[in-house]
This record gives sequence, structure tokens and C-alpha cells, in this order.
Amino acid sequence: MRSLIDIIDLTVEEIDELIATANDIIANPDKYAEKCKRKKLATLFFEPSTRTRLSFEAAMLELGGSVLGFSAANNSSAAKGESVSDTVRTVGCYADIIAMRHPKEGAPMIASMRSPVPIINAGDGGHNHPTQTLADLLTIQREKGRFDHLTVGLCGDLKFGRTVHSLIHALSRYEGVQFVMISPDELKVPEYIIQELEKEGIPYTETRSLEEAMPTLDILYMTRVQRERFFNEADYIRLKDSYILTPDKLETAKKELSILHPLPRVNEISVAVDDDPRACYFKQVMNGKYIRMALILKLLEVA
Ligand code: CP
Repeated sequence: MRSLIDIIDLTVEEIDELIATANDIIANPDKYAEKCKRKKLATLFFEPSTRTRLSFEAAMLELGGSVLGFSAANNSSAAKGESVSDTVRTVGCYADIIAMRHPKEGAPMIASMRSPVPIINAGDGGHNHPTQTLADLLTIQREKGRFDHLTVGLCGDLKFGRTVHSLIHALSRYEGVQFVMISPDELKVPEYIIQELEKEGIPYTETRSLEEAMPTLDILYMTRVQRERFFNEADYIRLKDSYILTPDKLETAKKELSILHPLPRVNEISVAVDDDPRACYFKQVMNGKYIRMALILKLLEVA
């Protein structure tokens, strides 16, 4: 039985297989309409979500399965003090696979050690978000046709932004990828990730200037400043509008730039950018459903 806790739980070959399956689902949806008949997915969300929870549910429904779950900790017995381990042992009696989001880093990993069914990490605190990374990778593959030899700009809250951490781990495995990390000093990529990049010899630069980085980028991955991870509201207010992408800032960008954002956005991308053909963030949302369909099939070992 396989769970997905960290993006590097999947080999590069397995990611290629998931992307091939997702592309086949996009081309031939009817072929998959009953693949998960009589299977159940539980979504256990101890933190808010729109895309991840609903795309998992849409994915299972489009595979012919059913869904159950809760969308907030206070709608579950966690509010009475039940542990994550007991919760998944219980839900594993009712469902074949569980997608879990939790504010505590490592909670889905602990859950996977006690769960009788596969656990999918749907975001754990400021740590990882592997299925968002799968959506990002499917988007990059469909837009760029490759993962190698790309200059990837990561902009915004690189400290608490779990999607950034998982994406760095995923893309570090491809030749010729270099990262340009654009953030205020207070929101830089955590030191443990920098040390991993140094150890592997992956090229990266850190800057505070989006304008300076813009002309060099093949991908610009914008992120929201993660208000819910701040200890101090004043710091959030001071940092929240550090970067606001507007059409004029894109004037120096490559014609083939792809602009990604895991969403939700607050202020960091002006709605005026949405009509730019380089804006890919709503394609990412759609791709998230297809790649989660592929992942459910893989973890349930459905041929
Ligand atoms: N990208 C993402 O995780 O969005 P939600 O918080 O809406 O699930």
C-alpha cells in the first residue's frame, strides 16, 4: 500500500507515468468514467481549502467513485481531542483512500503510519504540498513540453509557502534547472532547502527584485503571503504587498514566459494579468483535477 506524503516519494519515472495518465484522461475522459466504481475517497481537511479538496472530490466523482469527509477540524471529533492516528484508523473503516490537509507539519506522515488505507498529503502546515506540485508539473509539461533547462522564478512567501518547497524538490531532479528566489529577507526559502540545493550543486540565486529577475525567467511562480502562518499581524501587514504583478512589470519578460500561481491569490497578481496569454494559473486549477485522478488510480492500483 502506497501513500503520498512528499513529492520525492515518487520517482521521476512515476511522475512521467502520472502525467501521461492525466493527459490521456484529458483526451479520453469516458475511458475513465467507471474506473473507481464502488471506491470511496475521504477528504479530511483540518484547514480551509477550495481547490485541493474540491478537485479531489471532483476527481473521484469523475472516476465513478464516491466521496465523504469533513472540511474543518471543528466539524470532526478532532474538536473533542481525537488524535490524527485514531481519526484515520476510523475513516479507514469507511473509505478506500484518504486525502488529508493539516496545519501541523508531519501530520499526514504520522497518519500514514497508522492508516489502513493510502494517505495523500493535501498540504501540511508550511512544509509540503505534493499534489499541488503534481498540478504544477502537469501545467509546466503542457506549456513547455519539458522540465529540464528552465529558469524558474519563485516569488513571494518562500518561507511558509509549502507549494514552493515541494516544487523545488521536484524540479531539482531535472538537468539544467536553475532557481531565482525572489522574496523579502524575512520570507526567504528555509535554510534546510538551501543546504539541500548546495549539497546537490543545484544553481540558485536570491534577490529582492522581481524587476531584475523578470527578463531571465522561463517560469514565474507567484505565491501569496501566508497570513495564517504569521505569529504577528503587523509583520503580515508590512510584507503582504511586497510583490504585485501587473501588466507593466511583464514588459521585460520573455514572450514564452509561463506565469503560475497555486492560488488562492490575494493582491500579488493583478486581475489585469489574467488576460495575458502567459497567465497559466487557471489552467493549473483544471490540471489539478486531472492529475489527482491519475494519482487516485495509481494509489488504488486501478489499471
Ligand atoms: N492551491 C491550494 O492548495 O488551494 P486551496 O488552499 O484552495 O486548496
